[in-house]
Amino acid sequence: MLRLADLIAPFENSGVADSIRENDLLFPLIESVHVLSICLVVGSILVVDLRLLGLASTNQPVSRVTRAILPLTWSAFVVAVASGSLMFISNATKYLGNGYFVAKLLLIGAAGVNMAVFHAVSARDLPRWDNESAPPLRARLVGGLSIFLWIAVVACGRWVGFTMPVG
Ligand code: HEM
Repeated sequence: MLRLADLIAPFENSGVADSIRENDLLFPLIESVHVLSICLVVGSILVVDLRLLGLASTNQPVSRVTRAILPLTWSAFVVAVASGSLMFISNATKYLGNGYFVAKLLLIGAAGVNMAVFHAVSARDLPRWDNESAPPLRARLVGGLSIFLWIAVVACGRWVGFTMPVG
């Protein structure tokens, strides 16, 4: 039976992972890129969520806000996953043993499901409430839950660094 450890070993033992582990500058550089990209991911999602909650950009249709913002969100998300994966392979076994790291990935998954449910269900009748300053309750619930989940992702992401075994 293939174990997760067998799946990650080739990545953790790769030349790229070695270089990140050995070089004092590479990890902080990659983490800086990670922090910048997650600022864009979470910041842009917050703009959409605050519109869904009827707390900001209420003079703009919901569809216009999402259309303008989501390409930026997705591009920054790709950079966050790429930079995060590079840091991850440099110490994969220890990260998988870190509860905050695992919780962070699960919360990112939950935030994705929340947004998918919004697009599959709530957004079906969007034209009916697109221009309303206060969207219907289910759209506001999606926005509120999204904000809660992304704050939890960021908190877990930060706690990883405090709870990794030294050496
Ligand atoms: C868009 C989603 C993501 C968000 C919001 C996020 C958030 C964070 C935050 C806040 C930190 C702490 C940065 C610091 O304080 O220096 C962090 C670090 C980290 N993230 Fe992410 N992250 C995301 C995606 C990912 C993914 C997909 C992976 C891996 C597959 C990942 C792997 C890591 C690693 C390995 C660290 C370094 C932890 C350490 O300090 O040792 N992240 N992330």
